Amino acid sequence: MKASTRISKTQEISKIDRRIYGSFIEHMGRAVYEGIYQPDHETSDENGFRQDVLQLVKELNVPIVRYPGGNFLSGYNWEDGIGPKENRPKRLDLAWRSIETNQVGLHEYMQWAEKSDTEVNMAVNLGTRGIDAARNLVEYCNFEGGTYWSDLRKQNGDEKPFAIKTWCLGNEMDGDWQIGHKTAEEYGRLAEETAKAMKWVDDSIELVVCGSSSSSRPTFVDWELTVLDHTYEYVDYLSLHQYYDNKTDDLAEFLAKSEDMDRFIKSVVAICDTMKAKKRSDKTMMLSFDEWNVWYHSNEETAAQKPWTVAPHILEDIYNFEDALLVGSMLITLLKNSDRVKIACLAQLVNVIAPIMTEEDGTAWKQTIFYPFQQASLYGNGKALNTKIEVATYDTEKIKNVPYLDSIAILNEEKNELVIFSVNKHHSEEIIFTIDTDLELLKVIESTEMADYDIKAVNGPNQEVVVPHNSNSGVTIEGGQIMIKAKPLSWNMTRISLI
Ligand code: AHR
Repeated sequence: MKASTRISKTQEISKIDRRIYGSFIEHMGRAVYEGIYQPDHETSDENGFRQDVLQLVKELNVPIVRYPGGNFLSGYNWEDGIGPKENRPKRLDLAWRSIETNQVGLHEYMQWAEKSDTEVNMAVNLGTRGIDAARNLVEYCNFEGGTYWSDLRKQNGDEKPFAIKTWCLGNEMDGDWQIGHKTAEEYGRLAEETAKAMKWVDDSIELVVCGSSSSSRPTFVDWELTVLDHTYEYVDYLSLHQYYDNKTDDLAEFLAKSEDMDRFIKSVVAICDTMKAKKRSDKTMMLSFDEWNVWYHSNEETAAQKPWTVAPHILEDIYNFEDALLVGSMLITLLKNSDRVKIACLAQLVNVIAPIMTEEDGTAWKQTIFYPFQQASLYGNGKALNTKIEVATYDTEKIKNVPYLDSIAILNEEKNELVIFSVNKHHSEEIIFTIDTDLELLKVIESTEMADYDIKAVNGPNQEVVVPHNSNSGVTIEGGQIMIKAKPLSWNMTRISLI
């Protein structure tokens, strides 16, 4: 099969915001305890953080990590996680039927983020709490000193403000599973007033308001319109969440889901722009896709029937090769929409529907989905170029006109490099992908593929089977044309240096 496109240095979608390669740590399952933090683990540092995990987080090159939830957020008192550890209360976490020990709180998380070379995307509880707790938290984190909350931060060991820039106004407030679930009207008003107060404390912060928790929610669209009607002038991003599954074991349908994600993003952009017109506003609302991934292998298991425990084994999906392909396509989708999607968080980072897994008494290891994400985050920087592809399409029962090839080209002017990510979704045919360009091509720096694996192949501790391999012979340059041979069912990365 053939595919073709033309890219030009003058035809850009947008400069890519690095935060598009964000991720997420929630106090749930073994994400925090036995994940990032395990004082009795042999690799743990003086603060109790697992250094094997820190190492993998750094390798993944994650610029921002959302915290502390998730559904957990909506019952969380941030004050429980500050001050001497021995005085911190143990609480019931109603979201995940767990016991929260609060041994990791604000200061510990900030320490971990610094060690991981990542920024924090902090979320405030708008389920059981509200304006007061939120504005106090901003004061505690970002105010220089000389007030009750900022001085308490100093007393608790951090002289300098944390200077957190990106903040979420609650989590999935449209869902009845949420503690303190609200109607769009109730949430819209609360988010509006909370946003105002938070920005009065620190007007340099950026705020993310909750959109729908998926495109299949019955209130999707009405929710966004109502919430934005209240908050448009006070917030900077609207959130989207979406998880996909392959419960029917239909590979073509599963791989088509990045197309569904694309349509979801475009619908939300249209909603935001409708509100912009209604408000006669100069401001363009940006998007934060702050939860996305494949999620189903663990059957959305919660600790429901089990006794209350600390750090139960929940949502520990083991990802296979087809999941890595869809994650690759979802990354391409985010990049194709990078003019509006400025933040995105792969949910989550460690142990809970995550690219990184840990053994309690053993190693930390990389799931299949680790690799496309890592390659995108390491090399997908600069300007996303318009990459409109001519290629055959297929129809599934639910999603029509799905291109067999997904691809995005990125121009990294700092490194004088062109990077191309592509996914071939065809189960048996190679795609010969030709790219014409006005960029002056020098040579192929690197070309890798994840291909030829059983689609159900997985990785495990000390067993990294599904990984990218060199595919140098699969890419050629001639004059102003690049040719990539993308194997059936493959994720491909090509890096080309420019003259
Ligand atoms: O990421 C797991 C859960 O999925 C989060 O807690 C919630 O926000 C979403 O429903």
